[in-house]
Amino acid sequence: MKAPRILVVGSISMDLIVTTGRFPETGETVTGIGFSTAPGGKGANQAVQAARLGADVTMVGRVGKDAFGKELLDSLSASGCVIDRIKEDSRHPTGVANVQIEQTAGSTNNRITVVPGANGALVPEDVDFLEVGISDFDLVMLQFEVPMAVNLRTAEYAQKAGVPVLLNTAPAEALPNELRNKITWLSANETETAVLTGILPSDNRSTAAAVSALLDQGIEKVLLTLGARGAVLGSREGLLYAPCAPGVTVVDPTAAGDSFLGAFAYAVCSGMPSEDALHFANRAAGITVSRLGAQPSLPTLTEICALP
Ligand code: RIB
Repeated sequence: MKAPRILVVGSISMDLIVTTGRFPETGETVTGIGFSTAPGGKGANQAVQAARLGADVTMVGRVGKDAFGKELLDSLSASGCVIDRIKEDSRHPTGVANVQIEQTAGSTNNRITVVPGANGALVPEDVDFLEVGISDFDLVMLQFEVPMAVNLRTAEYAQKAGVPVLLNTAPAEALPNELRNKITWLSANETETAVLTGILPSDNRSTAAAVSALLDQGIEKVLLTLGARGAVLGSREGLLYAPCAPGVTVVDPTAAGDSFLGAFAYAVCSGMPSEDALHFANRAAGITVSRLGAQPSLPTLTEICALP
């Protein structure tokens, strides 16, 4: 079988991870448990996940000409991503994300602050090579961690060539009308869904209402990730729910959504039926959250297949 060809245009950031027993209040200092760094950025995480499963992935983005940038390029290429279209920007530092993880007896949660750096310096001209090359891909993946003008230009090329676009509306931001009519798949978590629809999908009823609202906005296929409630795929044909993988102990929820999307993209482009693709993606995300760090946690195909 031919490997799926996936293009990811998006962010590449170094995650600076602090683990603590309790998030500090405003103006408060707490003593943390641990510190580490790990390659991250929503775009790069999605690219690495799809590539680790066997997709041919090309990543477009920018890093700074610095040590973090080099480490991030190494992580992408070690996972098999094509990195020729990533620019090393000498005027901006590599993007970073301050990732705080709170581990309590009952739960593990995170808070993330992203400083875009070179990700914010990506310009539409960086994707102009796609005017002729975009039909080489089966799917284009976009997120909201690079300037909207870049997403728009990429989606325009994809639409002209008939290549489907999976847009992950993260971090939460309003969806511009010009982008809305150029995407096939829209993915959002609970808070992002609330920003897009005014409805927080907290139970099956509100989830169905949020999906309907997005379909009414003209989105063809809606993919909502619902934390511990799993994921749902909505289209005019109906709703498909898929629960989270069972028996998962959450060590770090960072990149759960990216792992889910990278795996889902790989699965649908490989011809897997939607319901199986949802379960496959949930299993990938289940492994990811059981380990610390974004890219180091993203599983291989062998690991997913080895799950009971
Ligand atoms: O989705 C997780 C990612 O969000 C982290 O890796 C961090 O870099 C932020 O972009």
